[in-house]
Amino acid sequence: MTEGLANYRRQPEEVPFDLEAKVGLRLAETTSALARFIENPIEKDQRIHAFRRDQYERLVSGEQITTSIYRSYYEAKFRQRGIAAESIPPIYPSNLMLRLLQKNLSHEQNWPPGLGYPDDFDTPEKWRAGVDHLLSDDERRLNLQMEILFLEIQSNVADRYKSLKLGLSLFGDNFTDRQAPRVMDVGCSLNLGGQIIANNLPFFSESDPYLSRRKRLLPEGREIKALRRLLKEAAPLGEVWGVDIFSPTDSNMRDWVFACSLYPSELMDAERVAHFNRIAEAASPKVHFVYNDFADPFVLTGSERFSTVLPEPGSMDVICLFTVLYEVPPAKRQLLINRALESLTPRGILLVQDFALVDAGSPQELDFDPWYHPNRADRWPYKTFVWEKTAPESGFQTLFEWSSGRCMELKLSALALRKIRALG
Ligand SMILES: C[S@@+](CC[C@H](N)C(=O)[O-])C[C@H]1O[C@@H](n2cnc3c(N)ncnc32)[C@H](O)[C@@H]1O
Repeated sequence: MTEGLANYRRQPEEVPFDLEAKVGLRLAETTSALARFIENPIEKDQRIHAFRRDQYERLVSGEQITTSIYRSYYEAKFRQRGIAAESIPPIYPSNLMLRLLQKNLSHEQNWPPGLGYPDDFDTPEKWRAGVDHLLSDDERRLNLQMEILFLEIQSNVADRYKSLKLGLSLFGDNFTDRQAPRVMDVGCSLNLGGQIIANNLPFFSESDPYLSRRKRLLPEGREIKALRRLLKEAAPLGEVWGVDIFSPTDSNMRDWVFACSLYPSELMDAERVAHFNRIAEAASPKVHFVYNDFADPFVLTGSERFSTVLPEPGSMDVICLFTVLYEVPPAKRQLLINRALESLTPRGILLVQDFALVDAGSPQELDFDPWYHPNRADRWPYKTFVWEKTAPESGFQTLFEWSSGRCMELKLSALALRKIRALG
């Protein structure tokens, strides 16, 4: 367990704290997280890099609007979450700001010449001019200040569900009905995962290599062939229930998810945008939506469009928690994991996919800090873990490792290789 998490667990929630000091410290941490990103850019997206530099410079100079937006963000989170707000990764509010700006900048019609989003935003100076242009309007500025307090990043990337598609075949022996497993996708966002699999739509990076080009990571040709076949063919599937605390039918939400899901360079790629829209518009009688908080369910009736009823305990063959846990406080993480395990059939599997590692001291725990570590050496930071209900002592086992949350390059674990070989 990392020190940050251990500290969080040692501190009871009731301890009074100095809000001003805590917020000041978090602001400083956000500034230095931005500095580390600038020194050691990992993004291939030049526009994100330029954005980070502009944000860093604004915070260092104490520029009024930007600093007060970050300050009120942390104040609100400490008031809502108490001491648990310390577990928000310091880069998170800046990532949230990028998405909020992207949502607003994409809709701007009256750009001065030479300044259009995202094409022209390739230097910190262009970001400065563009953001200043946007925020010179009072109403927009107030909107942004409100939105940053209430919205969370809601990226939805259909290619992340390659792991679900593979899991449905590799763990078939675990399911009540091998041909028709029942799946629940917790934190489904727009439900793109359920739709791409139920409709057997192609993944975006279908033609790219799924496996690392570094030879030593490549298994035999036979396994690669099997993998490609599994990713292409329709997966055995009964029904999929997506759960989220936001409704995918809310048009504002769709706009927000779109802004969260595509990097600026991807917005410039018409094929990428068309792929996203195609899946967002897909429908299937096998895919349902449940509007609820999986950690803390509420009872609401009266909606004809979707249910708020969560599954009976012991009823799901597969539960997915993809890119959800990294953005919730540690105590809520455990609640989500516990509820997921309760919802599984006796031989069901939980798939967690996130920027995390299996804790070195205990396989029953995941460690979420490394993704935000300044010297992230991990070439495969986004990982898929499987928890087999029949083997609680094994806890989380690493199944796949991905070169990024875009899930283009894949490294197979020994467990994944064994499972592929067992399929024959
Ligand atoms: C970053 S998105 C990931 C979406 C999708 N799983 C993916 O990987 O592309 C995280 C989603 O989890 C949802 N979420 C967070 N906490 C939740 C909870 N307690 N119950 C249901 N959904 C939750 C958020 O609303 C958001 O849509």
